[in-house]
Amino acid sequence: IKSLKPTHIALSETTLAKAAKIDGATLAAHILNGFEMRSYTFLDYKAKQKKEAAKTGIKSLTYLGDDSAAAKKAFKQLQIVTHAAFTARDLVNEPPNTLYPDSYAKRIAKLLRPLSVNIEIIDDKQMAKLGMGAALAVGKGSERKPRMVIMRYNGGKASLPKKQSKNAKADTKNGPLVFVGKGVTFDTGGISLKPGASMDEMKMDMGGSAAVVGLIQALAARKAKVNVVGIVGLAENMPAHNAYRPGDIIKSYSGKTIEVLNTDAEGRLVLADALGYIQDLYQPKAIIDLATLTGAIMVALGHEYCGSFVNDEKLWNGMEAASTATGEKLWRMPLDEAWSKDMLSNVADLKNLGSSRYGGACTAAGFLGHFVKDGTPWAHMDIAGTAWRKSDQPTVPKHGSGFGVRVLNELVKSTYEG
Ligand code: BES
Ligand code: ZN
Ligand code: ZN
Repeated sequence: IKSLKPTHIALSETTLAKAAKIDGATLAAHILNGFEMRSYTFLDYKAKQKKEAAKTGIKSLTYLGDDSAAAKKAFKQLQIVTHAAFTARDLVNEPPNTLYPDSYAKRIAKLLRPLSVNIEIIDDKQMAKLGMGAALAVGKGSERKPRMVIMRYNGGKASLPKKQSKNAKADTKNGPLVFVGKGVTFDTGGISLKPGASMDEMKMDMGGSAAVVGLIQALAARKAKVNVVGIVGLAENMPAHNAYRPGDIIKSYSGKTIEVLNTDAEGRLVLADALGYIQDLYQPKAIIDLATLTGAIMVALGHEYCGSFVNDEKLWNGMEAASTATGEKLWRMPLDEAWSKDMLSNVADLKNLGSSRYGGACTAAGFLGHFVKDGTPWAHMDIAGTAWRKSDQPTVPKHGSGFGVRVLNELVKSTYEG
C-alpha cells in the first residue's frame, strides 16, 4: 500500500473475524498493529528522505468495524510492545561508530530512567575491580572500553533491592526474573579476524542486549506487575596490538579460568561475566539470556527460528506458548552433558571453543551452562539468525528485527505476572 503513496487509507473487514473465530475488536487491533509493525523505518541518516516521508507519508489509517472502544484499548496494549520492539530495531540498526559500549550505556539510561527503571552503569575500571576478566578481555583491543549495564524494574509487590540478601538455601521464589543480553557493538572476530565479506553486518552483534532493553521498556511502559532485572554486557571486539589472543588464559568473574582458542567466540565470554555477576546479586526465579551467539544456529535453523536451549520443562512450556501467541518462532535445542564436558580445557577450567566444528550452537550453550548455578531455571536463546535479515518479512522490514521483545513480553505476562 505504501508504494502507492496514499495519504489516507480506510479499510473495512467483516469476514476475517468469523473465520478466525476471534472478536472483531481483537482482530482490528492486530491488523492495525501489523500495519504499524511493518511501517517501521530507520531514516536517522537519510535526512532528505526523512523530511520527505514526514511530508508525503500516510497521514491516517481508518479501520471500519464495531466496538471501537475495545479495539482501541487492545491496540494500545499491542502498540506499547511494538514501540519497544522498535527500540530494539533502532539499536541494532544504529552504526557501530555511534553505538559503542559507553554511548550505548548512556542511551539505555536516557531511555529507561524516565520509565522509573533503575539503571546502573559499571565502567571498565569497576569491572576490573570486580574481576570481570572475560568481558574485559573481549574489549581489550578496542579504544572503546566495555561496560555492564544493570536495569532494575520493580513492578512486583516485593521490593527489589540492589542485592538480594544471601540465603543458605537458594531463595529463587523471591528472586527477580533475570534477562541477560550479549552486547558486542561490533564483532570483527578480533585477532581471529572474520572474513571481510558482510563484516558490516556484525554491528548487529548486540541484538541480544537490544532485545533485553526493549523488553524492559515494554514491561515498564505497560506497568507489568513483576520484578525484572536485565543485565547487558557491552564490548567491542577488535584486533589490535593490545587485543586478547588465542592461547590467552583469562579469569572470569566466577573465578573459573578460560583458555581462549578463538577470539571470535567472544559472546560467551561476555555472557559468562554477566551471568556470574547477576547470580551473585540475585537468586533469580529464572534466567533467560539472548545472544547472537553462533553462525551454527543459522546453519541449523536459518532466519526462521530462534534456537532455544532450556533446562526446565515449565520454562520451556511457557516459552513455547508465548511463541505460538506472538509468532516469534522458537525451536527447542538440546543441552547435553557431552557438550558441557567438551568445553573443559586441559590447561584451564574451560576453553571457549568446542573440539569439533559440528554442533557449534550446542557447544556454545554447553559453555554457558558452566556459568549458571545448579537448580536455576535457565534458557539460552541464540538469536544469530532471527535478530537480523537482509530481506523484508510481512510485519518485519529488513535489518534489525527486534526479535525477542514480543515473545518474552508475552512469556512474562502469561507466566510470571500477578
Ligand atoms: N557474532 C558471531 C556469531 C554470528 C554469526 C552472529 C553470524 C550473527 C551472524 C559470534 O561471535 C561468532 O563469531 N561465533 C563463531 C564461534 C566460533 C568461533 C566457535 C561462529 O559462529 O563462527
Ligand atoms: Zn565472534
Ligand atoms: Zn559475536
